[in-house]
Amino acid sequence: MAWPEGFLWGTAQSAHQVEGGNVNSDWWHWEHQAGTPCREPSGDACDFYHRYREDIALMRDLGFDTFRLGVEWARIEPAQGEFSRAELDHYRRVLEACREHGLRTMVTFHHFSLPRWLGFLHADFAGLFERYCDRAAAALAGLVDFGYTINEPEGCAVGGWVTGVNPPGRKGDVAGMWQVAEALLEAHRRGARVIRARTGAPTGIGLALPDLVYEDGVQPGDTPFELGDQINRRFLELARADDYVGVQTYHRIRFGADGPRGVEAHPPALGSSIRKAWREAGGVPLIVTENGIETPDDGARIAYLEAALGEVRKCLAEGVDVRGYLHWSLLDNFEWSRGYEPRFGLVEVDRETFERRPKPSARWLGAYPRLGLAQTPRS
Ligand code: BGC
Repeated sequence: MAWPEGFLWGTAQSAHQVEGGNVNSDWWHWEHQAGTPCREPSGDACDFYHRYREDIALMRDLGFDTFRLGVEWARIEPAQGEFSRAELDHYRRVLEACREHGLRTMVTFHHFSLPRWLGFLHADFAGLFERYCDRAAAALAGLVDFGYTINEPEGCAVGGWVTGVNPPGRKGDVAGMWQVAEALLEAHRRGARVIRARTGAPTGIGLALPDLVYEDGVQPGDTPFELGDQINRRFLELARADDYVGVQTYHRIRFGADGPRGVEAHPPALGSSIRKAWREAGGVPLIVTENGIETPDDGARIAYLEAALGEVRKCLAEGVDVRGYLHWSLLDNFEWSRGYEPRFGLVEVDRETFERRPKPSARWLGAYPRLGLAQTPRS
């Protein structure tokens, strides 16, 4: 028994969290403002902006065949209506390097950060997103294997308007959250259309799908997790028109009579979320576009991944059309307001020299593409 033909094996990252020097984005500004929850600024991040060749070669060397990476809107359109040919050329070079190394590319057009001149509540947000996607996709055509419009839209809406952990840092504004969600639904619809038209690539969206479990007959309420779930349901419905849905799962959240009982890294959560996406998006193919665990203990990472991949196997055996597994992430990168402390990466990055040091889990996971469905790499 083999993994399905063409199954994608790879890693995922965003532009802001690895490139460094994204000085023109709302996140950069937010990282340098007093009173935000940011622990430290992103700074040079992993200097992927200059070291992409090395990382792409490493991906291939580790055994992976697919790289999900982001392009940064704030670089591509530094002022409204001004597009940077030089930055688009830069991203072409990055994608060309993937081609040279035999990696398929999944390009994320929006991953949390916006150009500083823009906010999600701009009256024409969807129109501006569509124009940006159109310009970027036209410039990158021929090098995009999978288009990916927006990363975790519910995170932008809930984080920015309810919990205040994303810019602009509002709290408790559920009406504002829904306005943002509506703008992002429309942006996805229009962005996906132009990306498909320009590149011909299968295109979708990636959703943060934690596994919400209700115990002791508890009924769903309106905690931030559940508001996120309500937004995700709208996106899963919309995704019926897409080529795939990206499933991004890290946690199980159990709800008892007193509310959420904490957030746990629990591998079976991945299986539950895959099944939920399969049901709610009506049988659209699925790709795990993020999954991983934040831990400095690499042995624990291997154990977690082994169990999570067991869940993918079970879903395949049940007939769910899962087409790939992309680990978050290749590098120990910048984790938004949490800084550089949490460690999701397969590869350690020296914060002074930018040297990359693969952890044992990197080769362990990179061995999967050459194994049969029932096998597990030796650790
Ligand atoms: C986001 C990533 C983030 C990861 C781990 C996901 O929700 O898409 O940007 O780094 O979780 O926290």
